[in-house]
Amino acid sequence: MGFQIESYRQKVEEAGQFLKRQLPFSPSLVLILGTGLSGAAEHMRKILEIPYTEIPHFPSSTVESHRGYLIAGSLGGKNVVAFQGRFHYYEGYSLKEVTFPLRVLSRIGAKILIVSNAAGGLNLSFSPGDIMIIRDHINLIPENPLRGPNIEEWGPRFPDLSQAYSIDLINLLKKVSMEIKLQEGVYVAVPGPSLETPAETRFLRLIGADAVGMSTVPEVIVANHAGMKVLGLSVIANVNDPDHFQPILLKEVISQAKAAEQKLLTLVERFLAALPEEEL
Ligand code: HPA
Repeated sequence: MGFQIESYRQKVEEAGQFLKRQLPFSPSLVLILGTGLSGAAEHMRKILEIPYTEIPHFPSSTVESHRGYLIAGSLGGKNVVAFQGRFHYYEGYSLKEVTFPLRVLSRIGAKILIVSNAAGGLNLSFSPGDIMIIRDHINLIPENPLRGPNIEEWGPRFPDLSQAYSIDLINLLKKVSMEIKLQEGVYVAVPGPSLETPAETRFLRLIGADAVGMSTVPEVIVANHAGMKVLGLSVIANVNDPDHFQPILLKEVISQAKAAEQKLLTLVERFLAALPEEEL
């Protein structure tokens, strides 16, 4: 077998021990910030910032719009660890590499994952700039981060995904969202990096997806395997209508995500402030 699970386990545990020594608190809450949303980390009260390059065995980011820093600080009065910059399948990483940082945090106490991304809207009632609560997902990335030998200490061989996105967390977010309009739907992860054709867009809509992107699902699978609760949020950067298909420009995607950043941050802040301490 090409993949050495024992060596992976050792790397995860070593990175975990390193972070445990560095972090000023036990990292119960993890935030993953996606495309164009990394500025949200600037609003945290930062205690510590560690470049990925200084963390043993961490992959390093190749995409300019994804800075690679782990930030420990507080947001909404709660201690959080934020990943500013993430790894994608389309960059050439395996899903074991993509999910390495989150697996490390799950080993040193992470209980809740808040994950955000920029996505293409497939549901034609969505508008650019909307925020969609991810209610469920479809994995079309031709890999699974749990493929290969299972480490029982890390989680079960066949993890249940009947509630991959916690209903309790979704309800809490809805309760505190107030004037911020929220959409809700199914996120489909595709391998990328090419964007969808009109025919693929029609297909994704037909199989039940409301938004499409190239991330998130691998991390959510690992979080569930590790027994974490997940809240997923997509910023709808563009809306793809198969019958009136417009070019999807990265510049537009990033600028829409940036424009929605403050709204997303306000939501996450209110959510964290309302999150009961017993959850942590
Ligand atoms: N497709 C895939 N990924 C994306 C899109 C899209 O239209 N927009 C932002 N990320």
